[in-house]
Amino acid sequence: MFFTLVTAALAASTVFASPIANTKVVHEKRDVLPSGWNKRSELHRRAILPMRIALAQNNLEKGGDWLHEVSDPESDRYGKHWSAKEIAEAFAPSDDTVSAVKSWLASHGIGNDRIKHGQSMGFLQFDASVDEAENLLNTKYNVYQHTDSKQSHVACEEYSIPAELSEHVDFITPTVHFDAPIKRHDKREPMEKRAISPGVEKGLGEPGSPSLPKLGATMNGADILGRLKNCNTQITPDCLRALYDFQHGHLALKKNAYGIVEYTPQAYVPSDLDLFFRQFAKKAVGERPVLDSIDGGVVQQTNMSFGFNGESDLDLEYAMSLVYPQNVVLYQVGDLVEGASFNNFLDAIDGSYCTFRGGDSQRFDAVYPDPYGGYQGPQNCGGFAATKVISTSYSYNEHDLTPIYERRQCAEYLKLGLMGVSVLYSSGDYGVAGNGGQCINPDGTYNNGNSGRFNPSFPGSCPWITSVGATQVKPHISLPNALASGTEPEKACETVIYSGGGFSNVFPLPGYQRKEVTSYFANNMPPYTSAQYNNSQETRGIPDISANGANYVVAVDGQFAKVYGTSASSPTLGAILTLINEERFSRGLSSIGFVNPVAYKNPGVFNDITAGSNPGCGTDGFQAVPGWDPVTGLGTPNYPKMLKLWLSLG
Ligand SMILES: *[C@@H]1O[C@H](CO)[C@@H](O)[C@H](O)[C@H]1NC(C)=O
Ligand SMILES: *[C@@H]1O[C@H](CO)[C@@H](O)[C@H](O)[C@H]1NC(C)=O
Repeated sequence: MFFTLVTAALAASTVFASPIANTKVVHEKRDVLPSGWNKRSELHRRAILPMRIALAQNNLEKGGDWLHEVSDPESDRYGKHWSAKEIAEAFAPSDDTVSAVKSWLASHGIGNDRIKHGQSMGFLQFDASVDEAENLLNTKYNVYQHTDSKQSHVACEEYSIPAELSEHVDFITPTVHFDAPIKRHDKREPMEKRAISPGVEKGLGEPGSPSLPKLGATMNGADILGRLKNCNTQITPDCLRALYDFQHGHLALKKNAYGIVEYTPQAYVPSDLDLFFRQFAKKAVGERPVLDSIDGGVVQQTNMSFGFNGESDLDLEYAMSLVYPQNVVLYQVGDLVEGASFNNFLDAIDGSYCTFRGGDSQRFDAVYPDPYGGYQGPQNCGGFAATKVISTSYSYNEHDLTPIYERRQCAEYLKLGLMGVSVLYSSGDYGVAGNGGQCINPDGTYNNGNSGRFNPSFPGSCPWITSVGATQVKPHISLPNALASGTEPEKACETVIYSGGGFSNVFPLPGYQRKEVTSYFANNMPPYTSAQYNNSQETRGIPDISANGANYVVAVDGQFAKVYGTSASSPTLGAILTLINEERFSRGLSSIGFVNPVAYKNPGVFNDITAGSNPGCGTDGFQAVPGWDPVTGLGTPNYPKMLKLWLSLG
């Protein structure tokens, strides 16, 4: 961490001219300047600062309980999801917060007429002279310059606010946050401007980005075996239906569309969908996903290769085949120049998130209209409906981002859960290591993965996500024989990829998971130290559930190939949840919403995976064992049992 939030108890108060300032305390302080930035000069006294005060949201600490209330199978309120309006009202900054901050501003001569404050907005905005801002925050502004880009940025190194306002203010900008986007000269680089840490050298959807699926052998049509006894070497939609015991969809309910998120320049190829459907889902030939273009999102057809098409083709071919005749909505996010982040997507499906706690980060998220010349429309802020199941096969390392940024985004997943949306993310393909195999050195930098601290993925480590790990059919098993004899045909995926799993360094252990995680540690204490992972048994464990992620037969760029990754597992699990929603809707029941509380109270509806492991960071990783484990979670879906359970709930 570069800066620390200093609480009243720790901070020395600073004497200052106005009476209220006697009790001012440091609110945020930067211990060291971020690398590359140096102080250049004082700020011109006539500069005008666009001040933004992020107000503390009300009731955030109650959010977990509220989500539990509508997601816990034993709750009377199970399935009674909230409307967007109810959520906005429940979490809006309290009147006390707004008036306390406004009267502080008024005492510094900044009257109501100068302050902008939208109804659902979590912040106050006003322009201030340098003198006003420095008096208000008891600080000194300077201009800092970046060594490489020569770009300048206005900032201070600490600021103070009255002690009694600490609880009402999240943070204030511009202050200690060096989040100005670094402008690059090379035209192709803006997408990499979110080269936000050594772990993120590529934009989410860029070819080579390590959370994308992995390519195996290419095949021609004759190589496709298509028999259930070959599911140990080739996964097809029929293999998945046999493994998890589910049938084709049949109801085509309009409100039951299944959402798949893709980040530009990833793009599906229409002729690939048909090539796949002709082989595996004849009725779907000619079907296309419903396109929701977010922030200039385009399904580009200029660059064609596995790196550009693999993820989208994989996700859509399987999602569409498995839930047909229900619709799949494709959320295509970001333009070709800048790309986008998870926050850009969340802004589009929930307008209130755009301004929540000060809005997106200029460091981690794309800015629209695109300052680099791409999409010039306004940033999409609301206006796109969230489908009831949303699967995303991209992820960061938790360590790539900051805890403040992650907690803000995680609170949004909580709200989507309250609204009855099941949000799924793949858990990563590098076992206990992070994307690309990176592990964390004691000084916080990354290494090449032979040692160091385990590196779990985000957003999966947010407790309000269902994190999806990967399994494979055991090498020598014949699926029909295994199913007939009741032998578990799968183990943790150890072909090409290892299922991402482990324990968060940021998020505490959620209540719904406590029993399973505690019993995991009691029976299978891993042989690693607290230097390797947070072994306090008090942090969030991932994944939650898994599904097959090896040997998927996918049509890409006109031919079939085998594809690997939790990138395959997440759309498969999402398809199964969509089929369960179909049955619930047809009986007048609500969507299943946030899955985890039901899943952890009913581990018996999953096939327990007890073999395999997820090596990384110079270790054997964790082992798949009876019960929940940080490799395959609770196990893989058993559709008939899941359906029976979910149809029995509220
Ligand atoms: C994508 O296509 C454009 C236009 O043909 C080309 O200029 C660019 O280099 C391609 N990008 C990659 C990464 O291949
Ligand atoms: C592990 O997590 C716990 C609970 O969040 C926290 O108190 C502790 O400081 C963490 N330990 C390490 C070594 O990070």
